[in-house]
Amino acid sequence: MDGLKACSVLVTGSNRGIGLELVRQLSEKRNGPEWIFATCRDTEGPHAQDLKDVAAKHREVKIILLEVTDHSSIQAAAARVTEHLQGAGLNLLLNNAGIIRLSTLESETAEDMAEVYKTNVIGPMLVSQAFLPLLRKASQESPQPGMSCSKAAIVNVSSGGGSITDLRLWHLGQNVNYRCSKAAVNMLTRCQSLGYAEDEILCVALNPGWVKTDMGSMTAPTTVDTRVRVILNTLGRLSEKDNGAFLNWEGTALPW
Ligand SMILES: NC(=O)c1ccc[n+]([C@@H]2O[C@H](COP(=O)([O-])OP(=O)(O)OC[C@H]3O[C@@H](n4cnc5c(N)ncnc54)[C@H](OP(=O)(O)O)[C@@H]3O)[C@@H](O)[C@H]2O)c1
Repeated sequence: MDGLKACSVLVTGSNRGIGLELVRQLSEKRNGPEWIFATCRDTEGPHAQDLKDVAAKHREVKIILLEVTDHSSIQAAAARVTEHLQGAGLNLLLNNAGIIRLSTLESETAEDMAEVYKTNVIGPMLVSQAFLPLLRKASQESPQPGMSCSKAAIVNVSSGGGSITDLRLWHLGQNVNYRCSKAAVNMLTRCQSLGYAEDEILCVALNPGWVKTDMGSMTAPTTVDTRVRVILNTLGRLSEKDNGAFLNWEGTALPW
């Protein structure tokens, strides 16, 4: 992750799983970010304890309340982050929070489809809108040419399950709500990459692969710390040539 030199990073859904590990490894990085905004939707409950333990050891970690399906919560989080940054911009936004509802094509419900879409697609869209002024500021004030995650970037955490052309894991889980939401977040990323190109804000959809988390389950082949190490290295290497791409954890382009 030596290549990643973002001064400020925000991670949604950072109280467990991939989000928590991103915060942990960023906070342990030598010459790491000055600000790590670790957001979660229940900052006081028992589910925030692991994150609180990380924040207690690293003063650059600021825990911010953020429910990605709630517009006023997003606005309040953006205001708090703006306050912390004291006039500086935000370099890297990681839209990581996500949910899945196990289902088959027959058992899928309107409620689950809507809830998953609201969290996995509308959430990243609204969060990106709210933090856009800070991302723009970071880009404008950066002396670096081109695009990078160290300068200004939106990384939408997607999934191989969102690929329309590669449905290899269909037999392991149909989960139509999740597949549709991740295909949509890929499209959101493409739109953002066009819309924010002039601002030199890099936008990518990143598939972290199947990892051992509550969502991935313990049958996943890879531990979260191993995978997040690779992801952070990859983020450090991304540039304008990756803008609008759908990538796996190593930065390889995936079929849409
Ligand atoms: N694990 C895998 O194998 C895998 C594979 C491909 C893609 N992904 C993607 O990677 C990302 C992280 O997954 P994970 O495996 O770390 O999942 P996880 O262990 O289930 O954690 C999900 C995180 O998202 C948060 N979250 C859910 N809904 C939220 C909301 N409405 N507002 C704010 N936060 C919310 C959760 O907070 P609470 O604790 O409050 O619920 C939790 O922090 C997701 O986008 C997922 O789709 C994971």
